[in-house]
Amino acid sequence: MRADKLLVHFSQIFSPIDKQRALKGAEMSEATIIEDGYIAIKNGKILKIGSGTPDESLIGDHTKIHDYTGKLATPGLIDCHTHLVYGGSRENEFAKKLNGVSYLDILKEGGGILSTVRSTKSASFDTLYNKSSHLLDEMLIHGVTTVEAKSGYGLDWETEKRQMEVVKELNHTHPIDLVSTFMAAHAIPEEFNGDGDAFIDQIISEMLPKVKEEKLADFCDIFCETGVFTAEQSRKLLQAAKDLDFKLRIHADEIDSIGGVDVAAELETVSAEHLMAATDEGIKKMSESGVIGNLLPGTTFSLMADTYAPAKKMLDAGMAITLSTDSNPGSCPTANIQFIMQLGCFKMHLTPIQVFNAVTINAAYSVGLGESIGSFTEGKRADIAVFDAPNIDYPLYFFATNLVKDVYKNGELVSK
Ligand code: NIG
Ligand code: FE
Repeated sequence: MRADKLLVHFSQIFSPIDKQRALKGAEMSEATIIEDGYIAIKNGKILKIGSGTPDESLIGDHTKIHDYTGKLATPGLIDCHTHLVYGGSRENEFAKKLNGVSYLDILKEGGGILSTVRSTKSASFDTLYNKSSHLLDEMLIHGVTTVEAKSGYGLDWETEKRQMEVVKELNHTHPIDLVSTFMAAHAIPEEFNGDGDAFIDQIISEMLPKVKEEKLADFCDIFCETGVFTAEQSRKLLQAAKDLDFKLRIHADEIDSIGGVDVAAELETVSAEHLMAATDEGIKKMSESGVIGNLLPGTTFSLMADTYAPAKKMLDAGMAITLSTDSNPGSCPTANIQFIMQLGCFKMHLTPIQVFNAVTINAAYSVGLGESIGSFTEGKRADIAVFDAPNIDYPLYFFATNLVKDVYKNGELVSK
């Protein structure tokens, strides 16, 4: 049974400042940091945070008190870009990658995403559900309480729908909250023989309206990349999605800069994802149109590329950025957002405050949930990651170890 009230003490509490939108540029270096702090929780929501001895009015007969001396509290981490639901795995491509075969060449040969499409088509709902649920368990123990999950390993209606239904079901059954994104435009199906235009038309006429009608996703996304979908095709699909009131995201400038960022700026997508190859001009456009840059350094790492997204330039240009795993079987097989955060520091030279803002408040706004999660603001859900660390620098400096001990979701201990 949930205690009516809960009071939790920590050595340090990190909370982003909620400006009712994602933090941009220099704002990402600001935060509330409380030493010797407490969080008071009522009915699963944040009642108050403060330092020292809490006011007596916060303690009632039924208040449970938990002491986390020596530990750090941050809002539950939000993984705002994952390809959660899929069949099979792709370790068979690893040796090829080590021998220098590129990601896009593997895809061109019918491997990569297309290989996962074959495994996903042949997987039952239960198989996909169990596999995704296990992946969510892994994310949860690393401190994640909310996950965005894309479809895109079906490329036909039946399988895309199955993927989104798995997300819907997990949203009911798993402690992690899920936000669903429809991404049939993830690769051109083999039976279309490279005819991306025809596939985009099919998505627009046959799939998008059904996704809307059956309330299977809030967002629509597309992979704008050499050999996958062009900027023109991306514009067409995302405009159609916008007309149906979907919120938009776009995989842009992941490997080549082919105009996806222009589409993001023109259509004012909520975010543009990856951006490893982003240009100065593209950064300026995203900054002017308020597009959030969602950076996925684990993908650069896993693709064995040298160039990380220019995070610092983006902040200097006044952009808002987020960080996420991109968890998928090909370009980033991981469930560990802490490693991604560490890459944000080690490879992009972001500071710990910038990194924690990126995976909490900014990620919350990027999935459309900024009003209820992402900071310890009164009335928001009490989602808490408890780190076995004395301060926010420590979990970024002490790398490649899971430092999250306990996780609270809506004020309840869900991982220990
Ligand atoms: O975000 N870029 C496209 N999609 C994924 C990779 C998916 C896969 O390789 O299975 C990504 O990197
Ligand atoms: Fe992705």
